[in-house]
Amino acid sequence: MKKTIIIYGSTTGNAASAAQTIAEKLGNGATVKEAGAASKSDLTDFDNIILGSSTWGDGELQDDWFGFLPTIKEVGLSGKTVAVFGVGDQFSYSDTYVNAMGELYDAATAAGANVIGSTSTDGYSFNESTAVRDGKFVGLALDYDNQGVLSDDRIAAWVAQISPSL
Ligand SMILES: Cc1cc2nc3c(=O)[nH]c(=O)nc-3n(C[C@H](O)[C@H](O)[C@H](O)COP(=O)(O)O)c2cc1C
Repeated sequence: MKKTIIIYGSTTGNAASAAQTIAEKLGNGATVKEAGAASKSDLTDFDNIILGSSTWGDGELQDDWFGFLPTIKEVGLSGKTVAVFGVGDQFSYSDTYVNAMGELYDAATAAGANVIGSTSTDGYSFNESTAVRDGKFVGLALDYDNQGVLSDDRIAAWVAQISPSL
């Protein structure tokens, strides 16, 4: 079986919780790792890589990603299947909702990955997001601040969507 790793950045625990739930629902023994603790081999040893981040500041990646993103650029992701998820607050940060997911998508694409797992924006309400391309989110968008009760079902649907490709 191909190996899967989930690498995430989280400050207050929401993206961490999402990463754990994704792993549970995948049910394939995926490794879960904080971006701050990740290293080169966490990219090279896995075929499938799920990258996640909450969004902070004015639409920025969560802090732990700043140290690891250069490693993705350096190592590259060609031949890898990648999916991305983002956690944000669509009401309070309506102009930058889950922008960090857009950054992860761009980094993965530039590194040569085959990125899967885009989702509909139906059911969300925000002005702008760099994580929307061609009218769809580039990955799974979550909002624990306003729509926490929807997270479990959103994760389940997304995992069902990406699982056949992993
Ligand atoms: C100071 C601050 C800035 C934030 N900036 C954004 C933002 O630009 N876009 C967004 O979608 N969410 C933003 N958020 C919301 C967080 O991403 C959200 O609360 C998330 O659930 C935190 O996840 P974490 O616990 O994994 O870090 C911000 C929150 C705070 C407190």
